[in-house]
Amino acid sequence: MQVPVDVEDLLDIARRLALGAGELIRTGRVQGAEQIAVKSTPTDVVTAMDRASETFLVAELGRQRPDDGVLGEEGASRDGTSGVRWVVDPIDGTVNYLYGLPWYAVSVAAELNEIVTVGVVHNPENGELFCAVRGGGAWLNGRRLHCSDEAALGQALISTGFGYDADRRREQAGVASALLPQVRDLRRMGSAALDLCQVAAGRLDGHYEQGLWPWDYAAGGLIAAEAGARVEGLRGAPAGRDSLVAAGPRIFPELLSVLEGLIPAGPPPQRQ
Ligand code: IPD
Ligand code: CA
Repeated sequence: MQVPVDVEDLLDIARRLALGAGELIRTGRVQGAEQIAVKSTPTDVVTAMDRASETFLVAELGRQRPDDGVLGEEGASRDGTSGVRWVVDPIDGTVNYLYGLPWYAVSVAAELNEIVTVGVVHNPENGELFCAVRGGGAWLNGRRLHCSDEAALGQALISTGFGYDADRRREQAGVASALLPQVRDLRRMGSAALDLCQVAAGRLDGHYEQGLWPWDYAAGGLIAAEAGARVEGLRGAPAGRDSLVAAGPRIFPELLSVLEGLIPAGPPPQRQ
């Protein structure tokens, strides 16, 4: 039998874990930021601190919530019995981290019965901690967040991201180059979790990407949605690995329709 879950407890744990892992990776960057392995392609890198951060998160969750499941970018995969599963990205923005760019984050989400219910994203370089509980709004360091109410696509600042596979990047570059003349400007900042939080904060009008993994968008997607943004996939699909579009509700329909015109319907991307 499942024990009732207190989502405020989950939020508290998520916050403390994100702060703890954030401190670990920020202070460990000097020694631990060298690339130690590659994953899907030679540019999809892992540093010692990606692994150390995930080890810390998984160990703490095992200690504090032993009956919960865990899914992590660096391989953590544990089934639970409580109805809660944690989805963690120990460093989102690993390439920025590798290069010393201060734009990376720890992302911690908790799903309850397969629905993302708590999300925390923390950038340890500037101290920003974004969080949300489903139905409870989105917050940045105690301040309530509201997404942009921009209505004109031509005035909109939109971010995107690219995968690690060269063929996939060629396709993504084609979409970005066709979108660029239709918007104020495009950004590619290197952390999808933080991009979604910028949408929540109204610092970006929207973000779109294909090929994300659940650990990239679980927490940030909830935070953007709780700040009032629409977070969906193309052609009526839910946001996911095939496609994710997050934007303020006024700009969303036009952005979605332009992207649907640029990105052909088809089988889900198998490559990163
Ligand atoms: C990546 C970042 C990037 C996005 C990539 C992700 P990683 O995650 O979120 O912004 O464009 O698709 O894989 O590799 O830095 O954890
Ligand atoms: Ca990631």
